[in-house]
Amino acid sequence: MIREDKELVRKIKELKKKRNAIILAHNYQLPEVQDIADFRGDSLELSRIAAKTDAEVIVFCGVYFMAETASILSPDKKVIMPDTSAGCPMANMMNAQDLRKLKQEHPQAVVVGYVNTSAAVKAELDYCCTSTNAVAIVNAITKESGGKKEIIFVPDKYLADYVSRQSGRKLISWHGFCPTHVKILPEDVKREKKFHPRAKVMVHPECLSSVVALADAALSTSQMSKYARENPAKEFIVGTEIGLIYRLKQDNPDKEFYPASERAVCPNMKRTTQEKVLWALEELKEEVRVPEDIRKKARLAIDRMLAIV
Ligand code: 13P
Ligand code: SF4
Repeated sequence: MIREDKELVRKIKELKKKRNAIILAHNYQLPEVQDIADFRGDSLELSRIAAKTDAEVIVFCGVYFMAETASILSPDKKVIMPDTSAGCPMANMMNAQDLRKLKQEHPQAVVVGYVNTSAAVKAELDYCCTSTNAVAIVNAITKESGGKKEIIFVPDKYLADYVSRQSGRKLISWHGFCPTHVKILPEDVKREKKFHPRAKVMVHPECLSSVVALADAALSTSQMSKYARENPAKEFIVGTEIGLIYRLKQDNPDKEFYPASERAVCPNMKRTTQEKVLWALEELKEEVRVPEDIRKKARLAIDRMLAIV
């Protein structure tokens, strides 16, 4: 079995070189997929790497909107996904028509959208944001407009709540949410705190507001990775999709990490396997490409975000 896995990894590496490809993996990917990635990271890091790389092919191990984002930033590269059925249910909770209607209801508002949106929704945004920089983006808009402009923030209502509390701004939000993060309940965090009283609690801002209220820090996945590295604490309760724990343990072998809830699994993030990565590299499929008119508009929203952060 181990020999077979080694053979698979060898073939992936060989083909990767031949195709001049890089493999990007989100922090929630299966350990075996994280192991073969050139880069792993959060949504912001991966989109930045995608923009900078000189590889001809990007193999995106994540969910659909992430591969679309890579394609928006790198139209001259071939972006392929090992399993294009890996979507993000939160991103699918709002389509471009929904957002156009919301914009019509608030014609003066500045429109900010989480990166967890389709390319068609991104094309309707003024600013894209990630969980790492959402507060900074809203603060920058507030500063520029002297606090006079309304702000639409979509699609995640819990991230919107969090950003609103942090920035002190009232936001017009949508009713989207992450079905994985809402599985983490306040009682889960309270239980784990009882078991591990010395542990620091870090949670993702996609969690329920009642869960965020119990945390020492609300952070994106890469911010969690940094926090775990830099904080002197030896134990951490982790309120996000459980895939991140593999990386946290690898990076900090002397520290302990406890999932706030074992139920926080994103099935879409687990669709990608090493076999599928190999097939994708063999056949250079499935390609994710965003139509040029949508791509140009979506790119503007991402560039405006990158200009602020
Ligand atoms: P980040 O890795 O940007 O924190 O995003 C979390 C997430 O749920 C991605 O789908
Ligand atoms: Fe979407 Fe949540 Fe899965 Fe992230 S964890 S891809 S937000 S469903």
